[in-house]
Amino acid sequence: MPRRHPLSVAAVLILAFAPCACSSASEPLPELPAVSELPRRDELPDALTTFIGARSIDSPDAWRDVRAPELRRLFQHYVYGFWPTTAEVRSEVIKDVTIAGGKVRYKHVRLTHGDGSAPPINVALFLPPAATRAPPVFLALDPCGNHTLIADPEVALSSAWVDGLCPGAVDNKATEAGRGGRAERWPIALIVERGFALAAVHESDIDPDNRDDTSFADGVHPHYQVDVAPAQRWGTIAAWTFGVQRVVDHLVADSDVDGKRIITVGHSRRGKVALLAAAFDERIAMAIPHQSGTGGATLSRSSLGESLFAINGLFPHWFNDTFPLFNNKEVFLPVDQHLLIALVAPRPLLATNGDDDSWADPPGALRAVEAASPVYELLGSSGLQKNGNDVLLEADLSWHSRPGGHSLGLEDWQTFLRFAEHHFGAQ
Ligand code: GCU
Repeated sequence: MPRRHPLSVAAVLILAFAPCACSSASEPLPELPAVSELPRRDELPDALTTFIGARSIDSPDAWRDVRAPELRRLFQHYVYGFWPTTAEVRSEVIKDVTIAGGKVRYKHVRLTHGDGSAPPINVALFLPPAATRAPPVFLALDPCGNHTLIADPEVALSSAWVDGLCPGAVDNKATEAGRGGRAERWPIALIVERGFALAAVHESDIDPDNRDDTSFADGVHPHYQVDVAPAQRWGTIAAWTFGVQRVVDHLVADSDVDGKRIITVGHSRRGKVALLAAAFDERIAMAIPHQSGTGGATLSRSSLGESLFAINGLFPHWFNDTFPLFNNKEVFLPVDQHLLIALVAPRPLLATNGDDDSWADPPGALRAVEAASPVYELLGSSGLQKNGNDVLLEADLSWHSRPGGHSLGLEDWQTFLRFAEHHFGAQ
């Protein structure tokens, strides 16, 4: 029988607004040129020179006050779209039990947000069962539902839309047959044994990854009004980022985790979100975008891997309606992805890759972290550290490539844990 924790009664907590270094969707952006008027830049835009006025950034204050806000606006305007800065979040503990033969504590927290009309976000918190201090927490999206992460009937079965390829999916709905179907990607017992927590969220609770849905009739989109031109509206990657930020709202107020040591981690399209969320929200202490590729940690200007033409054609709902104007015209982008990495500085960031995962472009991601390093250095970090061609894994800013292709598994988690333990100390 699972052990029930004393505080497992459905407690409702209304979270105060935590200060958030988020962008403002309401600021007018009259000075930003149309894509057709942007200058060509064959080289990567310099991290330490402003776009407006070509001012040189030579101090941490100038970075924080001038360049970082400018970059966040540029990324929202030209790439991801603008999403709501804040929303009121209410947390309800639905279940709090011990599972996996006593090795893991599972706490199901349901978040409602805004006016409460949007679908709730179900957070599966997997915790060390007998932690003596609040553990750092990995925060991750998964495409198929929290019940696919571990085969345990206590974990709530998702009621949100699932892709037909998800384990146990029938007519785009989750079924009992899917329990634990993605467990090899999520070594929960190991994560918890090493003293970390995992907060997992089914991305469809925020926005279904419905590739034929560019009208944004489902998920969070219809429940929030963002006052921007149609070409700057938020796509699915921005919506997922908004949802991750609402989970951060909860985590910083939940005494079962260390709200000052939140790590966003994600594979592939969810790696793009892990990076974007950390770039826009300084409450996130570390980011590990894994094989995040185009629109993530690799460069749009890289000639390797997935092009903008490919990603905007295959996934028209991921970005805003301005980004496709850069298809085959990447050199006109006023930003590139090294600048998104730079926005995480000086917080630790590890971009992980697979040697055979050429679509996600590991060399382009290495160039991106190299080009972000001057910002880490400006902010007092040693940034990327190399010995010849070897990158030091434990540096504040790092890149790693293991043998193999596009996947997430135990070996990757061993790397994530090594990086996190180095920066946060063994738990
Ligand atoms: C596709 C897409 C990538 C994405 C990946 C994934 O391959 O082109 O950009 O990262 O799916 O999410 O698995």
